[in-house]
Amino acid sequence: MSRDALRLVVLISGGGTNLQSIIDRTQSDKLNAVVAGVVSSRADAFGLERAERAGIPTAVLTAVDHPDRESYDQALAQCVADFDAELIALAGFMRILTAPFVDAYSGRLLNIHPSLLPRYRGMNTYRRVLENGDPVHGTSVHFVTLDLDAGPLIAQARVAVRDDDDEASLSARVQATEHILYPRVIGWCADDRLCMHDGRVSLDGEYLSGPVQFDYEDGVLKPDTRATTT
Ligand code: GRF
Repeated sequence: MSRDALRLVVLISGGGTNLQSIIDRTQSDKLNAVVAGVVSSRADAFGLERAERAGIPTAVLTAVDHPDRESYDQALAQCVADFDAELIALAGFMRILTAPFVDAYSGRLLNIHPSLLPRYRGMNTYRRVLENGDPVHGTSVHFVTLDLDAGPLIAQARVAVRDDDDEASLSARVQATEHILYPRVIGWCADDRLCMHDGRVSLDGEYLSGPVQFDYEDGVLKPDTRATTT
C-alpha cells in the first residue's frame, strides 16, 4: 500500500516558479505529496500569491521582524512544525540557515541551485557561465548542509549553452529544466526511495557515487544514466 502524501513545506523569497511546478505536480496526482505550507522571507514575493491561489497556507518571516539569524530560524522552525512538515524544499530562498535548523532537519532539507555543482556556487551563475564561455550549464538538487551550495548532490540536469544565449535565454531554459527535475526528486522522497545517511545519498537502497544525471533537450529530461553505485 502506498504511504500517505508527503507533507512538504516550500521556502521561497521570490517569483516561485519552482513552487508552481511542485504545486502543479501534486495537483495532477503525479506526485504523492501535498504542499502543506509556504514560507517566504519577503512579503512581496509573487510565490505567495501562487500559494494562496492554490489554497495553500502561507507565512511571511522577514529579516526586519527577526533581526538575528538565530531568532529568524527559531521562528522558521516553529512555522515548519506548525505545518507538520516531513520535507522542506528551498526554492529560491535567499537566506543562509543556521546550524540548529540545518541539524534539526538533516536529510529532510532539499535545495535547487542553478549550476552544475560544485561549479558556480553562489550568485549570478548565468553571467559567470557566459563570461567563461562554458558549453554546458544546468541545475542541481542537493541535500542542504551547513556548507552553502555544497551539500550531497542528488541529481543534476545539463543544459547546452547556445552561441546566441544571453542571461535571459539561458536562465529560461535552466528554469524550465528545474521545473521538471525538482518535482521528480521530491517524488523520490515521497516514494521513500531517497535518503541521506552519514552525508551520503542513497537512492533505492544504494549509495550514489555521484548525482543522477539528466540532459535537458527539447523540453524533456533525457535518459537517466544513473551514476554507478559504490
Ligand atoms: C531558481 O532558479 C533556483 O535554482 C534558485 O532560485 C531560483 C528561484 O526561482 N535557487 P523561482 O522563485 O522558483 O522562480
